[in-house]
Amino acid sequence: MSTRMTPASSFGPASGGPTPSAPAQPAAANSAALNLRRRPRRLRRTAAIRALVRETRLSADMFIYPLFVCTGSGQRREVSSMPGVFQLSVDEAVREAAAARADGIQGVLLFGLPEKKDDTGSAAFDAEAPVQAATRAIKQAVPDLLVITDVCLCEYTSHGHCGLLVDGEIANDATVEQLVRAALSHAAAGADIVAPSDMMDGRIGRIREALDQAGFSEVAIMSYAAKYCSAFYGPFREAADSAPAFGDRRSHQMDPANVDEALREVQLDVDEGADIVMVKPALPYLDVIARVKAMSGLPTAAYQVSGEYAMLKAAARNGWIDEPRAMMETLTAIHRAGADIIITYYAREAARVLRGS
Ligand code: PBG
Repeated sequence: MSTRMTPASSFGPASGGPTPSAPAQPAAANSAALNLRRRPRRLRRTAAIRALVRETRLSADMFIYPLFVCTGSGQRREVSSMPGVFQLSVDEAVREAAAARADGIQGVLLFGLPEKKDDTGSAAFDAEAPVQAATRAIKQAVPDLLVITDVCLCEYTSHGHCGLLVDGEIANDATVEQLVRAALSHAAAGADIVAPSDMMDGRIGRIREALDQAGFSEVAIMSYAAKYCSAFYGPFREAADSAPAFGDRRSHQMDPANVDEALREVQLDVDEGADIVMVKPALPYLDVIARVKAMSGLPTAAYQVSGEYAMLKAAARNGWIDEPRAMMETLTAIHRAGADIIITYYAREAARVLRGS
């Protein structure tokens, strides 16, 4: 194939336009011609034909842009394993959120780096902590931008685990009560959607009940319903300073080998009142996304996680892949598999490619 596709011509608005190409020529008398009724290549001849028959279209509306919020002001610290991703103080997070909105992004997902951590993760429900402060500031500055907040304890505990430790194990039910406090404090700060990422049992039901009792029945829940115990979260743990001090997350996150179990997890969260269900990571779990989309009946999100982003960035920096094309190809694949919503560190870059700028 001699035609080189540029990112814009394969995915952006230019894809509908004509490409300079010669009109179809009558087949030259050629004794070697095959007598084929079906020639699939007819529908791949020009950019216009390819655009006409394209089955999957991305739009910036479906992207959610994660932000890491830290204390202080004027802070913009790049995460070394995630080029282009920064730990931002509240003022800078507001600026980034407004810029994302201008690029066509509809929602941000906030993670927090608190001033202090303790063994119960109490900063997770501190009204003055970075996520709560950023939620208020973003809702004030960019009111139509959706603010989604991560609900978990791992960024807030001194040991880096997602819950309260009792005899070295994460105590499920006591942890859920801490998560409820965090979700309530996010709702009080003005979050549109809370997103529990902890994988404790029963947390969706308890959070729904508590939100409703506190008068936040309009706040939605995006559940990390099928969250796998993945090696691809490595760079995030640098970004969010949330690596476990010992052990791992296998006692609550899912075994990558399982898919029936993912469907059971999703069903529980649907029954408990989740509004949106999520599969995470994305690219290694396209089969899971497809099955969750088919069975849940709910908007289905997929999270293109830090390691997926870091791999593309690293290969691109070495000159080994064409980054815009690889970025759009992965996002297209995630959407094609069934994700209605894609959480991605590439949100702004991809939105700009789609706009052709
Ligand atoms: C937990 C949380 C994690 C991610 C999102 N929420 C990390 C983990 O479970 O260890 C990972 C996101 C990413 O890798 O981009 N609060």
